[in-house]
Amino acid sequence: MHDIIKELERRRAAAHKGGGDKRIEAQHARGKLTARERVEILLDEGSFEEFDTFVEHRSTDFGMENTRVPGDGVVTGWGTINGRLVYLFVKDFTVFGGSLSAAHAQKIVKVQDMALRNGAPVIGVFDAGGARIQEGVDALAGYGEVFARNVLSSGVIPQISVIMGPCAGGDVYSPAMTDFIFMVRDTSYMFVTGPDVVKTVTNEVVTPEDLGGAKVHTTKSSIADGAYENDVECLTQMRRLIDFLPSSNREKPPTWPSFQEIEKDDISLDTLIPPNPNKPYDMKELILKVADEGDFFEIQENFAKNIITGFGRIEGATVGFVANQPMVLAGVLDSDASRKAARFVRFCDCFGIPLVTFVDVPGFLPGTAQEYGGLIKHGAKLLFAFTEATVPKITCITRKAFGGAYDVMASKHMRADINYAWPTAQIAVMGAKGAVEIIFRADINDPEKIAERTKEYEERFLNPFVAAQRGYLDEVIMPHGTRRRIARGLRSLRNKRVEVPWKKHDNIPL
Ligand code: HXC
Repeated sequence: MHDIIKELERRRAAAHKGGGDKRIEAQHARGKLTARERVEILLDEGSFEEFDTFVEHRSTDFGMENTRVPGDGVVTGWGTINGRLVYLFVKDFTVFGGSLSAAHAQKIVKVQDMALRNGAPVIGVFDAGGARIQEGVDALAGYGEVFARNVLSSGVIPQISVIMGPCAGGDVYSPAMTDFIFMVRDTSYMFVTGPDVVKTVTNEVVTPEDLGGAKVHTTKSSIADGAYENDVECLTQMRRLIDFLPSSNREKPPTWPSFQEIEKDDISLDTLIPPNPNKPYDMKELILKVADEGDFFEIQENFAKNIITGFGRIEGATVGFVANQPMVLAGVLDSDASRKAARFVRFCDCFGIPLVTFVDVPGFLPGTAQEYGGLIKHGAKLLFAFTEATVPKITCITRKAFGGAYDVMASKHMRADINYAWPTAQIAVMGAKGAVEIIFRADINDPEKIAERTKEYEERFLNPFVAAQRGYLDEVIMPHGTRRRIARGLRSLRNKRVEVPWKKHDNIPL
């Protein structure tokens, strides 16, 4: 018996060595942790239950029969994060660069299937070079199986991808089909084909950082939802994110103890809006004052900053915040902002997370760049996403709600449940200057008349009361009571039920 146990220990120790000491050292020298060190940080201490430690590849081409490593380049299993079940697969770059063989794919597919059956999130940690080249079509088939599970799990369980090294091929396509992608600055890259292939095919010389580093993907391509300084910070933040999310679409989002009472007014909000309507203010201040303890997990913080998206909690329960940001491009809606917010809204709707929307939007961004870039369809994505969402929706207009953007931003007409406005709200087809120049074009050369017309327009339209008279707003509220109003509103919507016409699925303008 003693020998058998020794043999298990020996085999397990060999598996835990992955690609060996030299490659582990190289991993550390690049500022990266190993797969097992990552598991330790991600999960609650001692909670990891590993599967398939001894799985090996079955390839015999190119001398591969002499290079079998137990585990085959991916550590898989389940554990808990703050007591809640998660499944995970963590690529081991020290074994064939974390590349995917048929056996490696079977390990991933096993945890994907278990996560789906048992209703728990899957976290994939990527540090890998895509399909294992020596395995040919078997590797491609393996990816196909992983991709199919990504698609079937979408909207059923949260899927999170954490990019912690150079990732190519299938190791970027699978993440692309998950709900969120996070990266580590300076050590992680994502590209379909790496710089060498780029040079061969297009003659373009580009560094990995410029082709697919965290900066590119969080500011330009919007592939990644956030980036962190190092592995430890990134994994710790993933624990924080999981705390906001329900385990599946069958469960309600988790609730955590909240210490900030809702009855207490925040007088500072009464002066958040500057007297000059063209002066910006920071909408994040409002979010932080409405969310429990100011705890806000922002999604896509560095992309399309003219709209803010992220998770917070109200009375301990998760909500998704969507808010125009007057500090950037006056909070205008453009293609990027619309796409960013639409995807976030749809995630929240999939997983029963109520939406709280703050509106200060001067309209859609005009110009050829936007029109050629498909603003019509991108803007429609957000309109579509807000309208189809059946989760509780509470909207508060703080200042401008002009034109189509008024409709889009979770207006009453887009089936929002409760629509509030602050007394500073201005709801109109457009701002005074543009409106007067169009409807009183004949007076354009008479400054006195134009000033008079402008004043008349401002008095008539640039307030919340016309919309309130029509019932398009449910109430005009004092800024200081916003948190209380929203919290009580959410309480009233807890048992919301809506019927939707039968359909296989909708056809959101992609
Ligand atoms: C087999 C691989 C591998 C792969 C890396 N390795 N990628 N082995 N198949 N795809 C091995 C290397 O041989 C090396 O082994 C070790 O992993 C580390 O790789 P390095 O190149 O030394 O590391 P680095 O310089 O950091 O570069 C990492 C990399 C690069 C950027 C990921 O290795 C790379 O470009 N790999 C190929 C990427 C690729 O084109 N993959 C196929 C994509 S197609 P040793 O023994 O020296 O440690 C695909 C299809 C899926 O995925 C379908 C999509 C729709």
